Amino acid sequence: MSAPHGQDALLGRYTASLTGVFGRPARILVRGEGAHVWDADGTEYVDLLAGIAVNALGHAHPALVEAVAGQLSTLGHISNLFASEPQIRLAEALLERAGAPIGSTVFFANSGTEANEAAFKLARRHGAEDPSGARTRVIAMERAFHGRTMGALALTHKEVYRAPFQPLPGGVEFIPGGDAGALRAALAPDAQGRTVAAVILEPVQGEAGVHGWPAGYLRQVREATAEAGALMILDEVQSGMGRTGTWFAFQNPQVTGDDAPVVPDAVTLAKGLGGGVPIGALICVGEEVSTLLRPGQHGTTFGGNPVAAAAGLAVVETVEREGLLEHVRRAGERLAERLTALDEVQAVRAHGLWIGVDLTVPSAGAPEGGLAPAVVRAGLEAGWILNATGPATLRLAPPLTVPVEDLDRFAEQLPALVGAALGVSDHPEEQHP
Ligand SMILES: Cc1ncc(COP(=O)(O)O)c(C=O)c1O
Repeated sequence: MSAPHGQDALLGRYTASLTGVFGRPARILVRGEGAHVWDADGTEYVDLLAGIAVNALGHAHPALVEAVAGQLSTLGHISNLFASEPQIRLAEALLERAGAPIGSTVFFANSGTEANEAAFKLARRHGAEDPSGARTRVIAMERAFHGRTMGALALTHKEVYRAPFQPLPGGVEFIPGGDAGALRAALAPDAQGRTVAAVILEPVQGEAGVHGWPAGYLRQVREATAEAGALMILDEVQSGMGRTGTWFAFQNPQVTGDDAPVVPDAVTLAKGLGGGVPIGALICVGEEVSTLLRPGQHGTTFGGNPVAAAAGLAVVETVEREGLLEHVRRAGERLAERLTALDEVQAVRAHGLWIGVDLTVPSAGAPEGGLAPAVVRAGLEAGWILNATGPATLRLAPPLTVPVEDLDRFAEQLPALVGAALGVSDHPEEQHP
């Protein structure tokens, strides 16, 4: 007799058999197509989260399916004692899209947190090359999220994530982002004469609610780090691969504040890169940065695996073939306009198809746990997959392929979802990235 497999039965089996770090999942999903998914009871949802900004091509895109199936049936895994053409082609494709100069290279990892671990090691290597022996500090931003492994966690600001795992790798300091004065002060030698090896930041802070920096801040970081001899590392795990309407957010005039890209020394990628197949990357810009990590100083069994690399290539090629960067810009603007016009919405921060929506909290107050988590629950009941990054903030990160009709319908229905949420009173689950 097979085990029970309806929604409730599966959720019970999940709780009994999986480590409880994620809380109770919202639904058991069984199938997806384009921007829509179906749960174990056959209910359909429009997916405006895309596996947390991952499914760039939506669900079951034929190009991704063919690339992965074709590669897996040809050569699935080889380790990094060997190389494969998909891995080389993907590295070349990323360097070209990034506009990286000759001598730049890519290290492939398996996730965003792993890409940031590699970046942290790069920072340490840069510090170690300094003859003074005093280039030991790393600067990160308040409200930053860079991942959950010990190194990436050391760069992540949120105390509830950090506190249970102290001591974390040392030498990391947090500054208020967007404040050029704080940046310059942090880049000066400290009281013990220690200098800065690297500044790491997201071009737009996703987990914090899709918050960009004041215009020109990224360029100030670029100039100040160059002057101080520190690396500038951009975490584009969430913002990269077309999410904002350009391949990288550092190329997006709306993010940089002017028309020229702000080229960092290193960039980390993951999420959308594999379209749902796990892969991360660290792009080292220029020969000097590319040679900091020497043979034997870093490694991975799976990183750059031919299947993951084939998935990445399918994403790059499909985004271009289907004109998705343009679609992302237009569809994002259109949705942002419609959301901004709603009384239920207090503020909209849109960067392509990556949108933070601050909801208007009525004077009578929000449901327990916050209005946005209640809207997420009301959305599920009404067939929408949404996400809250705070008590009053929704984050939308749909597939880059999402049809505008789905987005228009969401803007139409949001007032009703907020209405339903204000009648919802059960306890919300916190949503973890
Ligand atoms: C900016 C940023 N960096 C790193 C990570 C961690 O990536 P992963 O969950 O793939 O380890 C995330 C995940 O949300 C992220 O948004």
